[in-house]
Amino acid sequence: MPPACLTAIRGLPSSEIRSFLLLAARTKKSPEEFSSILKGKTVLQFFVENSTRTRLSFETAVRMLGGQNLSFSASGSSVQKGETLLDTVQVIRQYGVHGIVMRHRSSRSPEQVARATGLPVINAGDGGHEHPTQALLDAFTLAKAWGADLKSEKPFQGKTVMILGDTLHSRVTRSNIHLLAALGAEVILCGPSTLSISHLSLFPEVRYEAFPERSLSRVDAVITLRIQIERQSKGAIPSLAEYRHFWGLTPDRAARMKADACILHPGPMNRGVEIDSEVADSPRSKVLNQVENGVFVRMAVLARTIGGWEGASS
Ligand code: CP
Repeated sequence: MPPACLTAIRGLPSSEIRSFLLLAARTKKSPEEFSSILKGKTVLQFFVENSTRTRLSFETAVRMLGGQNLSFSASGSSVQKGETLLDTVQVIRQYGVHGIVMRHRSSRSPEQVARATGLPVINAGDGGHEHPTQALLDAFTLAKAWGADLKSEKPFQGKTVMILGDTLHSRVTRSNIHLLAALGAEVILCGPSTLSISHLSLFPEVRYEAFPERSLSRVDAVITLRIQIERQSKGAIPSLAEYRHFWGLTPDRAARMKADACILHPGPMNRGVEIDSEVADSPRSKVLNQVENGVFVRMAVLARTIGGWEGASS
């Protein structure tokens, strides 16, 4: 695989993760310093699944780095006529592409594209596998909220994060488990057992709890997950109303949290299901900070991969 890819968080050491986060802090502080990193380069935005935040923030980040976007959507393309993933990508790269940001329903497809093309590939979400830049922007947001020192090996030591909801279908969870553990946080997964991440023994870094009440009062952050209605197998939860009753982040549950504990959601939110509006729009919610930070984190990732940035991160 080309060295300049970001296809997963799993396997990245704390130093590598913190290099992305420290560079994101620099891009946020002085974006003009990076305004020509991608000058003369074209980045293919290859999105075969729907996206608002990830796609728009990557496109914005490319523009802020002085590069050009070439955008692809499956709908209206020859994918609808049966053209394969690798054929499609090989065709598009002939238009002068220097790197690929891709979202695809098939787990590990970014690695296949990287091997087939030899180009730098950034995973923008692959099936149920990983969503590495989401985990990076979540960590960046938490680091800001907690005032964490990203120069230390374990900046999240002593912090506890609950990931609440449908962890079974969540690529955000898989990336976050590895990242949060690498930075020293304790991670609790919570949600219906029917929607819990499978093969939990493969994730020795985490603990599972069926209901949030037991730990809510001691966590420093809750990452609430979207109920992926489009991916539910029949009967995993009796109804959305019952889901909210047992696992929704309601004002009552939020009130059990520490006063300075924060709430994240990768979006899009199902208001009134996994999170109530009163909580989502409360001062402790970091949802819009996550969106804003996503641009700077993606600038850092693009700079260090497709841009070949080798300078200091901080
Ligand atoms: N968090 C996230 O991946 O959002 P989008 O699906 O809107 O990109």
